[in-house]
Amino acid sequence: MKAIEIKPNIYWIGAIDWAVRDFHGYVTPNGTTYNNYLILDDDVTLIDTVKHEFAEIGMSNVKSLVDFSKIKNIVVNHIENDHMGALGIFMDLMPQVTIYTTGRGKQGMERFFDTSKWNIKVVKTGDELKTGKYTLQFIETPMLHWPDSMMTYVKEAKLLISQDAFGQHLATTARFDDEFVECASHAELEDAVIDYYANILMPFGRLIKSKIKQIKDMGLEIEMIAPDHGVIWRKEPMRPIEMYLDMAEGRTNLRVAIIYDTMWHSTEIMTQPIMQGIKDEGVDCKVIKLRATPMSVAIKEFWKSRGVLVGSPTLNNEVFPSVAEFITHLRGLRPTNRIAGAFGSYGWGGGAVKWLYQEFEHMKLERFEPGIQVQYRPSSEDEQKCYEFGRDFAKAVKDYHKKFQ
Ligand code: FEO
Repeated sequence: MKAIEIKPNIYWIGAIDWAVRDFHGYVTPNGTTYNNYLILDDDVTLIDTVKHEFAEIGMSNVKSLVDFSKIKNIVVNHIENDHMGALGIFMDLMPQVTIYTTGRGKQGMERFFDTSKWNIKVVKTGDELKTGKYTLQFIETPMLHWPDSMMTYVKEAKLLISQDAFGQHLATTARFDDEFVECASHAELEDAVIDYYANILMPFGRLIKSKIKQIKDMGLEIEMIAPDHGVIWRKEPMRPIEMYLDMAEGRTNLRVAIIYDTMWHSTEIMTQPIMQGIKDEGVDCKVIKLRATPMSVAIKEFWKSRGVLVGSPTLNNEVFPSVAEFITHLRGLRPTNRIAGAFGSYGWGGGAVKWLYQEFEHMKLERFEPGIQVQYRPSSEDEQKCYEFGRDFAKAVKDYHKKFQ
């Protein structure tokens, strides 16, 4: 896609990846974009590059606007490969540039490339780079999403180039939020923001709150947010900030996700009366079978729910492997502000439900105990107990949810 002017003399020059379905391990059914930007000022300045495979597209977008020999600066906001992968190729065409990045950015860059001939300038929060008409201000955002990360604020354009933060994995010809909403929907856009946050930024809620506070304290006027993935926030620039704050504060839906797997359908049978009990208590419920669902979708559905019930059969005295995989992903994301319970079936010796509660404790999730287990096949009496379990869990979820109102 051709370069697009997003502010006077500031261009989106990125690449659309229509085909990517596995983004370092999580599914991207809608593809993504690698956004980078070019500022045509007295000192021509590039912000980030693109993924290595898209270097040709990235270079041709630059060349459509300026010769590489005229570029004075490049800002590297983040050194992950989807944004810096093409840096080596770009640097061969513009050895004259000064690179602006954080201390951690410089260290990481030195691991990926031979930087011995590169002119790298380390910047900190508040440092500025005057390019002519425009002034770039740097804001370090460590761990959003890597230790090196930073954002670049273009003062006179009131433009925040936010790197991964506020991005979405959406391959689309729409370059702006309002264009996307017109051709798709607001709900789809916000779901993509939640998906991104749940799978990448969930562990950093506290950091996100303090960083957003810092940005507010700096008094930055923001008319546009340009992330490194997905659409640019032009019509509702404050909306992704509100959404991030809400998620970091623990706000979510009064809803339960039943996330389970099954061997011979016994645990699966249990999900139905449990779901009915939850529904009859007036709480929305989503049932997710792990072997039928990509992991990142299960994580997103967990994140969109105040309560989670995890179901697993016992296999060789252990939890079922796909359930263990889900818990491993979840543990790494350090979830908070959710209430969890467990259920499952066994043959001649349980273990899965006990293991799940140990994991919930380890994750410091609010626990709804005891869980419920059935031997071999749920009887009609067991199904009634599952129904009551669902009702009781829904009541506990409603109570717990009040804390966040
Ligand atoms: Fe889009 Fe952390 O890279």
